Amino acid sequence: MEHWIRHLPKAELHLHIEGTLEPELMFELAKRNAVALRFGSIEEVRAAYQFADLQSFLDIYYEGAQVLLHEQDFYDLTWAYLERVQAQHVRHVEIFFDPQTHTDRGVPFETVIRGIHRALDDGERKLGISHQLIMCFLRHLSAEAAIATLEQALPFRDWIIGVGLDSSEVGHPPEKFVTAFARARAEGFLTVAHAGEEGPPEYVWQALDQLKVKRIDHGVRSIEDSALVERLRADAIPLTVCPLSNVKLCVYDTMEHHSLKELLNAGLCVTVNSDDPAYFGGYVNENFLAAHQALGLSKRELYRLARNSFEAAFLDDGSKETLIAELDTYVKSAAF
Ligand code: HPA
Ligand code: ZN
Repeated sequence: MEHWIRHLPKAELHLHIEGTLEPELMFELAKRNAVALRFGSIEEVRAAYQFADLQSFLDIYYEGAQVLLHEQDFYDLTWAYLERVQAQHVRHVEIFFDPQTHTDRGVPFETVIRGIHRALDDGERKLGISHQLIMCFLRHLSAEAAIATLEQALPFRDWIIGVGLDSSEVGHPPEKFVTAFARARAEGFLTVAHAGEEGPPEYVWQALDQLKVKRIDHGVRSIEDSALVERLRADAIPLTVCPLSNVKLCVYDTMEHHSLKELLNAGLCVTVNSDDPAYFGGYVNENFLAAHQALGLSKRELYRLARNSFEAAFLDDGSKETLIAELDTYVKSAAF
């Protein structure tokens, strides 16, 4: 079964590229860029990855990102992720990046996006992984700052499929960004938002009704509101769920208590993703395996999750059909 899961063709739709910074690369870039780290060793960095909640993670995640300065750094970060997930049979990725984490440190928007985009292009040509890029606004910063970031992105609009919302959720509801998201939609961007990770179901309603999102990132607390579950099901709004992240950040005390299976069996388009794999102990396959082991997911449910990852992707119907056909061929040949 483990072999079968590892080889399933899949897409990853909830992945922060800054969250793929492994301690080894953090040290290499710190040395290359003469950035001082407060950690003495790779083991010390890993030992610091014990989180009580989302904020305790974000503090260390923004700190780690300080080693990223030049276009090549963003290229190397993205390329390392693509090489890893190619080995995990990932066929398509939709990657978040947080421009404000870098522009607020004086790194130009252009430096960030050029490095990421060049690696994604190489990933398509050399590794056969298709891609989309989603720009996230940091919700702990102002709505005006989000609009300024959107304006910086306009010259690169062809490289960005949509905008999202991440960082500290509680106290920064989706409604704070209603103008920024309206402007983004008017400029032709699709919209997604982190909601219902630590925040209440009300934030998921706001993301749907006020930000007009096409997908909800996390959304696991939707299970607390049956009317919301019905809305997500009726409108076929996918949830990009990140099991290891939710346990690491104490949204659930154990994986056995995770709502993934319940959400899936309520008829929602649930997908499995890694969020910030360098920090949460695993890439997408480790998330599939951890959820499978704790929740006893059947082959049929695992197939559904993989299929959902393609159906929920921001791809045209033809590309989705090709990927789903590959999945179906795999499942048939592997004696489903
Ligand atoms: N939630 C909010 N913000 C984030 C996350 C997350 O899971 N990962 C990176 N930024
Ligand atoms: Zn996330």
